[in-house]
Amino acid sequence: MDIAAVNALPYEDFVDILGNVVEKCPIITAAVWSGRPFLSLAALEAAISEFIDALPESEGILRCHPDLAGRDHQSGSLTRESHDEQAGSGMGALNSGEASRMARLNQEYKERFGFPFVICARMHDKENILRQLSARCQNERAVERARGIEEVKKICHLRLQSLVLTDSRL
Ligand code: GUN
Repeated sequence: MDIAAVNALPYEDFVDILGNVVEKCPIITAAVWSGRPFLSLAALEAAISEFIDALPESEGILRCHPDLAGRDHQSGSLTRESHDEQAGSGMGALNSGEASRMARLNQEYKERFGFPFVICARMHDKENILRQLSARCQNERAVERARGIEEVKKICHLRLQSLVLTDSRL
């Protein structure tokens, strides 16, 4: 599907196909539909990014993300996108020491900040994710809130890329 095909989608199909580019936030996709036609995939991505930046309370978006290797991962109830990203970064291949470290640090992170640790898992392997999780636990809350949103945008970028063909001329 290219950007012209995206622009031609009726509202329901647009939200069905692109509704999870921000994890469990189809309302964001729904909100940008009225901004069609998008000149390029980058323009669609920019509209999503602007919508996120204009939210009065951005932590809600972070809270829509499941913990990496967490409860939803274990129960098999992840979204398809999150499942594929977590599998690709080795979250299903943690040894018992890594799994308990991940669970402890995810918990510590959530207790400290009040939202879950979000990282663009497709860009990292399990060792790197554990290292970043441990380091980011030490940050200030405002720094982590901004960092989490940056990671949401990276995840969104890769999810859009896998759904929409890009034209290098655009
Ligand atoms: N990185 C990519 N996908 C996810 C996800 O579903 N949850 C978290 N916490 N990080 C991610």
